[in-house]
Amino acid sequence: IKTIGVLTSGGDAPGMNAAIRAVTRAGICNGYNIKGIYRGYDGLINGEIEDFTTENVSGIIMSGGTILKTARSKEFMTDEGKEKAYQQMQAHGIDALVVIGGNGSLTGAMEFAKKYDVCCIGLPGTIDNDLYGTDSTIGYDTTMNTIVECVDRIRDTAQSHERIFFIEVMGRDAGFLAQNSAIASGAEAAIIPEDSTDVDQLARFMERGIRKSKKSCIVIVSESPKCGAMYYAERVRNEFPQYDVRVSILGHLQRGGRPSAHDRILASRTGVGAIEAIMQGQRNVMIGVRNNEIVYVPLSEAIRSDKPFDRKLIQVLDELSI
Ligand code: F6P
Repeated sequence: IKTIGVLTSGGDAPGMNAAIRAVTRAGICNGYNIKGIYRGYDGLINGEIEDFTTENVSGIIMSGGTILKTARSKEFMTDEGKEKAYQQMQAHGIDALVVIGGNGSLTGAMEFAKKYDVCCIGLPGTIDNDLYGTDSTIGYDTTMNTIVECVDRIRDTAQSHERIFFIEVMGRDAGFLAQNSAIASGAEAAIIPEDSTDVDQLARFMERGIRKSKKSCIVIVSESPKCGAMYYAERVRNEFPQYDVRVSILGHLQRGGRPSAHDRILASRTGVGAIEAIMQGQRNVMIGVRNNEIVYVPLSEAIRSDKPFDRKLIQVLDELSI
């Protein structure tokens, strides 16, 4: 392998730039040519590819988003799209791909590597923390901190008006962001896909909180198309008309901003890990960190949908929110 292409794909996550920087610099340090591929797999298909030097990645470690841009490519899901991508790799002399992204992006990499004889290395880049085999993903820590800062602010107004707030956070099908930001912000409850919280249970949580000197209440709700924060707010409004209920959907502000030190370090370590993996002849693995050690997780395992959720976290929030 002489030339490595690097791309970001799927939802951007704070720390992706630090990861691009790490892959580029570690690659150059070890004698590889590095090519930056713009707009994810779409850019690979369309040949939006540029030679990268160390200067291309100067002054980016502290910025959110991704200098390479990103996309959720529909075309890459098709056989024709993958064929075009492969042809572009050949034309640009790219022997290996480093894909920084989440579940969908690493699934794309895995399928591509099954069809063509290419080396694909994944870096866990998603705010959702839903990749299997790594303790944390790049962007998760920053987003959690952003959520906690927002909840702290909302608590000021919740307490002043003695209101119940349902705050909806991202996470797609995973409740890591909701559960842990609820613990960190001292919320009264979290509604997450990993736990079946029915409205009665929720009402009990709130009544318990409100009866004990608390006059306001914060519930963090993991996003869901059917039963997000609006749904629960409506149910509670109907059943407890005495409460003043508000909803706040944090939305995309959760994805932006300067990456935390934790995410910068994770991105740097896994970026260097990607180049080491290529040097060792590894193929089709995601670079993760488990128990503070770099690990190689087969892409097929990384995309599993059953990343263990520590149920003890539910008890922690429950006991501390009385
Ligand atoms: O996967 C990252 C994520 O931010 C999810 O938490 C969220 O469901 C989704 O992306 C939103 O995607 P989009 O920016 O395309 O609306």
